[in-house]
Amino acid sequence: MTVDSNFEVDLQGKKIALGVTGGIAAYKSVEICRRLVDAGATVIPILTAGALNFVGAQTFKALAKNEVITDLWSNSDPMIHTSLGRSVDLIVVAPATANIIGKAACGIADDVLSTTLIASRSAVVFCAAMHTEMWENPSVVENVETLRRRGHFVLDPESGELAGGDIGVGRLAGIDVIMRTIWELLEQTQDSPKVDISQQNTQVSISSHNQHFRGLRFLVTLGGTREAIDPVRYIGNRSSGRQGLALLNIAARMGGTGFAVSTVDVPKSLGFEVIHVETALEMQEAVFGKLNEIDILIMCAAVSDYRVASSASTKLKRSGESIQLQLVENPDILFEATQYIASHDLSVITVGFAAETDNPLENGKAKLIKKGVDLLVVNNVCEDGAGFDTETNAVWILDRENTISRIDLSSKESVAEEILKRVFKSIYG
Ligand code: CTP
Repeated sequence: MTVDSNFEVDLQGKKIALGVTGGIAAYKSVEICRRLVDAGATVIPILTAGALNFVGAQTFKALAKNEVITDLWSNSDPMIHTSLGRSVDLIVVAPATANIIGKAACGIADDVLSTTLIASRSAVVFCAAMHTEMWENPSVVENVETLRRRGHFVLDPESGELAGGDIGVGRLAGIDVIMRTIWELLEQTQDSPKVDISQQNTQVSISSHNQHFRGLRFLVTLGGTREAIDPVRYIGNRSSGRQGLALLNIAARMGGTGFAVSTVDVPKSLGFEVIHVETALEMQEAVFGKLNEIDILIMCAAVSDYRVASSASTKLKRSGESIQLQLVENPDILFEATQYIASHDLSVITVGFAAETDNPLENGKAKLIKKGVDLLVVNNVCEDGAGFDTETNAVWILDRENTISRIDLSSKESVAEEILKRVFKSIYG
């Protein structure tokens, strides 16, 4: 399979079941069907009774040049659910309503799509689309979490105009995003490694779509701390929290649970307990409050090394004169955490991050030792696409055995996948 920069994918030889459920976005699945067929995939459309209220089976039949499956009983194959479930490379449910997400999470098999889902071992991507209230309903949040824990891919809906003119989160993800996700899932189920880790003399056979972290608890810090100068201003940094969010996303997909200690919003649907913090001292308290409960600590946050000695309780006014701020050192949370883990004989894998501007590898090696971490992820923030507030990253992963893995410029999700595969190797060898 190949992909170009516009996500024009080549899916020759792939067989994909396209499940369509009863939501207004069902009309977009007509286009998804066409794009999959154009990409060379064999597409088997499965339309639920609800979907048939929005779109017609004939449209899909003409596009897919295949029989459209609408129920369990009127097909020449009496075991259509199992034969389909076994033969497809991927099941894409688009749109995935709250109903099908709930049925899949609970193991309900009462129509051809839900029965095929339960009868299949292939990868599944649910492209969620529903009203905001439904997406945020605790039962849907839990069902999404359950599906992710089981290794299914749930593509979050986007924000925008919804049926009836409402605005909010709930729109089906863009078709390019869906096509890219499909391609990535199919690539990864082939286990083709993106990273050259030959220096470690190991082969990547870990898939980010398997539940490798089931039963393991993470603590991931993310975002940038803010140290108050007065009630209005603060000392901060340019971290967006995107790399941390990508790590949480992939960790959830790989079955992990635990805590996100964050200065930025974290979607509840990822299933992590979110502890919102602002300052380094709050982050330190939150991290230390959970150290005894975790298996993996990933300190992705950009922590301010200094805070204002005494921040003003009211807004500082212009006085016509220059002012001086006295800064005092913040604790080094990661260093203190690795010391605590060692002195209490805890079994916790520790991962630190280092954003460097010069001599990244040299500084990174020294930082790995200084911080006492198992793995250190280093990036050169001066490198194009690897700085703050970007969609991409390029990093080196260093370990205590002095091995270095390079991950070239790629999406923060891909970087997160490679970091987590490396973490998995540290745990299981
Ligand atoms: N870190 C931390 N507490 C701090 C500063 C950093 O826990 N007060 C963590 C970060 O979350 C990151 C790692 O330490 O995982 C490295 O952060 P970085 O800012 O690169 O290192 P510093 O220790 O601050 O060193 P320097 O700024 O001098 O390079």
